[in-house]
Amino acid sequence: MNKISIIGAGRVGESTAQILAQRGMCHEVVLLDVREGAAAGAALDIRQSAAFHGFDTRVVGGSDPALLKDSGLVIVTAGSPRKPGMSRSDVLDVNRAVIDSVVDQVLENAPDSLLLLVTNPVDVLTLHAWQRTGWERNRVFGQAGVLDAARMASFMAEETGLSVKDIQTMVIGGHGDSMVPLTRFSTINGVPASTFLTPETIQRINARTQHGGAEVLELRQNSSAYNGPAAAIATMVEAICNNSARVLPSVCILDGEYGQHDIPAGVPAILGNKGIEKVIELPLDDTERAGLQASIDSIKADL
Ligand code: LAC
Repeated sequence: MNKISIIGAGRVGESTAQILAQRGMCHEVVLLDVREGAAAGAALDIRQSAAFHGFDTRVVGGSDPALLKDSGLVIVTAGSPRKPGMSRSDVLDVNRAVIDSVVDQVLENAPDSLLLLVTNPVDVLTLHAWQRTGWERNRVFGQAGVLDAARMASFMAEETGLSVKDIQTMVIGGHGDSMVPLTRFSTINGVPASTFLTPETIQRINARTQHGGAEVLELRQNSSAYNGPAAAIATMVEAICNNSARVLPSVCILDGEYGQHDIPAGVPAILGNKGIEKVIELPLDDTERAGLQASIDSIKADL
């Protein structure tokens, strides 16, 4: 891919730009922010790390939406972050307005791009952005499940003492407290994860996963997570740039899958250079299905 733009030069946007540049995932990375200096300064700082990491990626920052021109992918991290004690839904109204203006800039400057939403509440805002673009649903999607599943894997590694490299996990539903960690679809190098876990441990892992973002925010007080989110975004970007058909939990606008129509939810999907190539329907049992329905109901409450 030639050019990837990131709207929002906060911590998530900046960390993402650094990873994309460092991995040489495209020729040019743009950081766009209404705060011109924040975007330009972050881009300058990243460029000054190029000699250490040995990358030639062009990194540009500014506030002019024309910088988005010819982007193949636009990542949206802009918006008001939540404060300790707030839910992701508490920032919905202010961030809906941010997304409106961002989508209009994308429509004008990068009408052929893919749009990856990160701003919270990400499920609702992915639907909102998709509706405003009028694009096919495969081109507008969100990041949540890759991060949530990585959190689940990290807690599973802590609880079992086993290498996180061997742990595959799956989390579906909304990116909120009712998200659904799926132990039954998680393995440690193919061995069902439940082999290594007691019911109490599973419960502990699931609860920490559901509150993974809040736990970081409570500790830091002045910042949400950004290292995990940026790595999760980069994982999705890599699948898109390499057209690698990875199966990654992504916020998709469902088109009949899981019995839902035009509803956004985190589900496993095949991700490639056209965006969401296919939503995978998991054979859920009754409890998992009820969990997903409850999580989707909580998304619907915000629509
Ligand atoms: C989190 C926020 C970014 O999960 O949603 O950390």
